[in-house]
Amino acid sequence: MVAVTRTPLTAGNWKMNLDHLQALALVQKLHWTLKDAKHEDGSVEVAIFPPFTDLRTVQTLIDADKIPFALGAQDLSAHTSGAYTGEVSGAFLAKLDCRYVIIGHSERREYHNETDEVVAAKVQAALTHGLVPVVCVGETAADLEEFGASAVPVGQLRIALAGVPADADIVVAYEPVWAIGSGQAATPEQAQDVCATLRTVVAEVVGEDAAARTRILYGGSVKSSNIAGFMREPDVDGALVGGASLVADEFAAIIRYQKHVGV
Ligand code: PGA
Repeated sequence: MVAVTRTPLTAGNWKMNLDHLQALALVQKLHWTLKDAKHEDGSVEVAIFPPFTDLRTVQTLIDADKIPFALGAQDLSAHTSGAYTGEVSGAFLAKLDCRYVIIGHSERREYHNETDEVVAAKVQAALTHGLVPVVCVGETAADLEEFGASAVPVGQLRIALAGVPADADIVVAYEPVWAIGSGQAATPEQAQDVCATLRTVVAEVVGEDAAARTRILYGGSVKSSNIAGFMREPDVDGALVGGASLVADEFAAIIRYQKHVGV
């Protein structure tokens, strides 16, 4: 595989938390915290994924204050426009300067019946609208017991990436379902094993160059106290952070993992 440098990506998935006013306060506090700490902006890419109703407000703030955070949405419709009540088109997200969109989060797969085929259609929709899909895959505790760690995420990723062009910009997030919101993260070794396997899937399905440049994130109970261990692994290129992204000091400490002892 071609050696390339991948800029680490720290992504904050707010889930269904914070209205647009609370969003303003958190983004401002996060920005100030990083500035106070003299954080070097280019060292890590920061992306935040607020609820849909916050996006316009956060976009305006980022723009006005020149805040170096990328904006993303937590989902999108597989369709571009039309009679799909309650859905949000990738075209609308692109107009709000969203760069990223999370697709196939386990909560959407589980509570909103998103199949691998729906996930694949949403990946295509994201690419159509110039958005970078953050494709989430991961096994449940039962899957882990029955099939081991890689089998289910590998199967999910193969379907999600089918038909993705070789030059597409994508991000993959490995999120073991048993680790999400549980306080029990995978070990760095477990994350590395699965992320390395997922990289071979990107190579097979999309191409070697894509595999070399694609960021593969780990997600599931990431905190400032465990991020450095994940980031030391060669195939873990960042983190998708849920709960800890809602606390400015904690998320800033995750972003600044390079300053943690021992990295
Ligand atoms: P968590 O969530 O960090 O709260 O475990 C991660 C996610 O669901 O993306």
